[in-house]
Amino acid sequence: MQNFITLAQIDEIADAIRKQISIQPQVGLILGSGLNGLADSVQKPIFIPYSDLPTFPVSTVHGHVGRFVIGELEEKPVIVMQGRIHYYEGYTMGQVALPVRVMHRLGVQSLFVTNAAGGVNENFSPGDVMLITDQLNLMGMSGLNPLMGPNLDEIGPRFPDMSQPYDRAYFDLARSVAKQNNLTLREGVYAGLSGPSFESPADLRFLRLAGADAVGMSTVPEVIVARHGNMRVLGLSGISNKANLDGSTITTHEEVIEAGRVITPKIETIIRGVLRGI
Ligand code: HPA
Repeated sequence: MQNFITLAQIDEIADAIRKQISIQPQVGLILGSGLNGLADSVQKPIFIPYSDLPTFPVSTVHGHVGRFVIGELEEKPVIVMQGRIHYYEGYTMGQVALPVRVMHRLGVQSLFVTNAAGGVNENFSPGDVMLITDQLNLMGMSGLNPLMGPNLDEIGPRFPDMSQPYDRAYFDLARSVAKQNNLTLREGVYAGLSGPSFESPADLRFLRLAGADAVGMSTVPEVIVARHGNMRVLGLSGISNKANLDGSTITTHEEVIEAGRVITPKIETIIRGVLRGI
């Protein structure tokens, strides 16, 4: 049996962070591939590398820095994950979602997740930003759920509701911020796969038929754990490439990082606007 995350482990990490900060973070931000730049906007930042924290997983992917940045954004106290943990790096699902557990124990009530994703919806183009309105838990359907193992009753129920993974009030805020800033905000369903291989044309046609608008290798486990703890979630996907439904083009990680340069300022505008509105 795998080792499951315990409350004692979460609290040990949360205590180590608490010792180094003087603010109480209210919003947690997770930055996806190529979107690290957003952390540079944090005011009065305290940097805590993941490697300084006991038992904390370390992100190994190029384009992910691997530290918490704690400070203020739009005068709101935030804790930013500059670099996330992915299942494909070899961690357990519990480890992938551990940072969200830690944020929750630190008192964070809202989670803003961002990611780089492939556009499955044929109307989407690279550089677009998509408001995630729902998610397709394909990892969970194949038996990988971060809530497996003993339930942490102090945090949430054994069988948490997932009828609204993403917060509807945040939808309205994000839409109005996009409008005020003349940004086109796409909307749709994010499908979470384990990766690290990109999808085959048949995978992509299947995803489209299943109702996915974007596909990526993260987010879903983090959002499940956030909802388990009743955190409110805003999700934004940066569309870094068009899904290759007919196999005529290739997808590369470099392309994903490159698209992040166009997407980061748009996502920053939306996140700042939503922060101002809460
Ligand atoms: N597929 C999966 N994950 C991704 C993609 C993709 O096309 N682009 C960025 N992350």
